[in-house]
Amino acid sequence: MERMELPPRPKLFDFHGVSMTNYFTDNWNNVQNFQARPDDILIATYPKAGTTWVSYILDQLYYDQSSPVCLLDRVPFLELHIPLIPSGIEMLDKLTTTPRLIKTHLPVQFLPKSFWEQKCRVVYVARNAKDNAVSYFHFDRMNMAQPEPGDWNNFLQRFMDGKMVFGSWYDHVTGWWEKKQTNSNIHYMFYEDMIEDTGREMDRLCSFLGLSSSTEDKDRVRERSQFDNMKKNNMVNYSTDFVMDFKISPFMRKGKVGDWKNHFTVAQSEQFDDDYKRKMKNTHLQFRTTI
Ligand code: A3P
Repeated sequence: MERMELPPRPKLFDFHGVSMTNYFTDNWNNVQNFQARPDDILIATYPKAGTTWVSYILDQLYYDQSSPVCLLDRVPFLELHIPLIPSGIEMLDKLTTTPRLIKTHLPVQFLPKSFWEQKCRVVYVARNAKDNAVSYFHFDRMNMAQPEPGDWNNFLQRFMDGKMVFGSWYDHVTGWWEKKQTNSNIHYMFYEDMIEDTGREMDRLCSFLGLSSSTEDKDRVRERSQFDNMKKNNMVNYSTDFVMDFKISPFMRKGKVGDWKNHFTVAQSEQFDDDYKRKMKNTHLQFRTTI
């Protein structure tokens, strides 16, 4: 099959104070006017925090299936609007399953208001900044629908400056964290906890969502959603995605806590930590960079 051609890599621009590309702003009015339903479940994350993992777990918990349909079709990406493929909104309009599982990377202030009005449940997944930055760097190298990442040193500086698609990691994780303090419909979870004990985190998810899956079902979901199994599964590993170049890097790359140590120099790590302390000084939100 002929490979579909995308336009050149998109450019970052400031969009109401957040760095974005047109692939996530071109459909803005339709996204903002999206009509959520009370039973919709939103999976919200900063990019590369474990979105696919948690989406797949939820998909399996609700629809326990070895589906021949791609995860991106079963868990549409709300704000995605990229040439040559249906937009997230179009995919959501076609979705016949209930509840709908919906993915978003929007910072909290951009979420369409119907999600709040309908009191939808939100699962927010956060990942420590250092591993998140490394994962994002490799993703931007291989994803032709993302801006050119440049070299690691420049990329890291841009990450610290918040000049990433979907803006500042610091604002994203703290924005959703603050919202969670007054909204019990938000379940805030951590990638590191998932790695440490996937079963425990799945139990917490089930309890938040009111799901009474059997131990047997949960064991099966946990098994299927292990890194090596997801990496082999073409319905979830993005191998069918035309914007990603797996010769540069796979989507399911390492799946570890602490890979940052293979990327940060000592000087980069110290500078990052100093800057981190300043940016995160007003929050109680804590991350683990090793487990
Ligand atoms: P790495 O690049 O560090 O390997 P997202 O889905 O938000 O884009 O996040 C992708 C990151 O989550 C990648 O991190 C990917 O490998 C990791 N990931 C996906 N599924 C995973 C799993 N089952 N277990 C551990 N990590 C997983």
